[in-house]
Amino acid sequence: MKQFIQQLLSDCIANFKKQGLIAAEFEPRFTIENTRDKKNGDLATNLAMVICKKMGKKPQEAAQMIIDSIPASDRIARIEIAGPGFINFFMSCAHVGSRIYAVSQDPRIGVEKVSNPQTVVVDYSSPNVAKEMAVHHIRSTVIGDSVVRVLEFLGHKVIRANHVGDWGTQFGMLIAYLEKMENESASDLEVSDLEAFYRSAKVLYDEDEEFAERARKYVVRLQGGDDYCRKMWQKLVQMTMVQNQRIYDRLNVSLKPENVMGESMYNSMLAGIAEDLEKRGMAVTDDGALVVYLDEFKGKDGSPMGVIIRKSDGGFLYTTTDIACAKYRVEELHADRILYFIDSRQHDHLMQAWAIARKAGYVPENVSLEHESFGMMLGKDGRPFKTRSGGTVKLSELLDEAEKRVEALLAERGNDLSPEEKAVVVHEVAMGAVKYADLSKNRTTDYIFDWDSMLSFDGNTAPYLQYAYTRIRSVFRKTDLKPGAVKLICPQEENLALKLLQFGEVVSQVAVKGMPHLLCTYLYELSGLFMTFYEACPINRSDVENAIRESRLTLCKVTGDTIKTGLSLLGINVLEKM
Ligand code: ARG
Repeated sequence: MKQFIQQLLSDCIANFKKQGLIAAEFEPRFTIENTRDKKNGDLATNLAMVICKKMGKKPQEAAQMIIDSIPASDRIARIEIAGPGFINFFMSCAHVGSRIYAVSQDPRIGVEKVSNPQTVVVDYSSPNVAKEMAVHHIRSTVIGDSVVRVLEFLGHKVIRANHVGDWGTQFGMLIAYLEKMENESASDLEVSDLEAFYRSAKVLYDEDEEFAERARKYVVRLQGGDDYCRKMWQKLVQMTMVQNQRIYDRLNVSLKPENVMGESMYNSMLAGIAEDLEKRGMAVTDDGALVVYLDEFKGKDGSPMGVIIRKSDGGFLYTTTDIACAKYRVEELHADRILYFIDSRQHDHLMQAWAIARKAGYVPENVSLEHESFGMMLGKDGRPFKTRSGGTVKLSELLDEAEKRVEALLAERGNDLSPEEKAVVVHEVAMGAVKYADLSKNRTTDYIFDWDSMLSFDGNTAPYLQYAYTRIRSVFRKTDLKPGAVKLICPQEENLALKLLQFGEVVSQVAVKGMPHLLCTYLYELSGLFMTFYEACPINRSDVENAIRESRLTLCKVTGDTIKTGLSLLGINVLEKM
């Protein structure tokens, strides 16, 4: 619908230009909004206010001229001028009804694929080897995966890039420690507690000089491509990613082992990049290190900031890797757009790496680099989310707790589920709740992790949406009628129908902004409108005419399909019963 109005207004502008009412080169930037209050129609535009000055008219006069230029259409019931010069469009119920029926027949529920699919590289999750996934990795994983799903749904080619932290000087220490563990226990060891593994390695490194010496030798050997060290390193990567994959699968995150493109992958590019930057005169030697000075980033004393490309000992840094990585994504993966889901504390790091990559010509102007940054996860006390004793919260334990809580909640509410059904419900509701709590908040701010609000059945939560879906499914279990042609006769039906037709627009916005909370808000509002409709408009009552019941069943079907598809784009599953 918005597209239709957009077209009408574009035609109107073209007409005004032809008539010389506005200058040909003027491109007015106007908005078309879905109205909040139906008194103002269904859609509103500020176009008249944007162009009136250029026309030498009052806003209301310009609005009237726009309205006069719009051809009659059976899609629009009427058009009105409101307030300081807004134009309000009231869509025709008959048209909305036939659109809903068409959407009910469409497996894509009315969402078209984009006409210009892009290759989009999405950098997300990106945990570190021999460490438990930390809270900022959870946020990156859950939010990134939803945007990946949305982009694919719209027809883009998506390359998932799990930029695992699998390189660096700590690997000497980790190899030496793994070796010690293997020597001590005969069988192949499964490290269930990565955090403890890392901690013990570090303690030994700090306290045992002989161990530290061995560790330092191993780093050099690993970097030199030594066979033994490489094998040990691979084991470390493997044991970490096996555990992370379990978490991905449990959380219904679409990352697979083949999506790992860790830091080590860019290793062979680093020396060449350092040389190239030096050759171009961008990097200079300073105190033995190779440094790029960037005018746009000032140090504390106001002088251009130096970014170290190569340390004086010949080692490379996180930033050098990200320069190489951006180059690789452009040259080898042919990305049109690269999205980085990384927490806000790494913003400066990314800006520096990208500034250098752009200046060196590794990333051309037409490839967009976007930092989809996010805030921290806080506890109820507003402090960084930690265990009671102040340690990092393990994701697997957090998910266990979610399941325990849902199980208790189900018992409290009462249900007629078999044990097998119950296990599925517990799992899906628990994972949905945890993910949705994160997805539903504007990612740019910190967010408070709170069990009670995320598990509530009435609020902007996954359980609420999953429950709304089961309500719809039960409507269909209680009738033999089939969804039919749509005739909107009550305002509750009309409001629901209009909201349903906005789904495609919301999905596109998520893709553009990398913000799944827009979809969450939409689904929540949609479910609210459905509940209002459901209370006001009887469906399975024999005193209601069949044609009306069939029309309402179509509204139920499209709502159910929209919730199901919407949740699947968030990586959350629906249930038939709960
Ligand atoms: N491994 C990093 C961390 O734990 C995140 C990597 C993000 N991606 C990137 N291209 N730098 O903080």
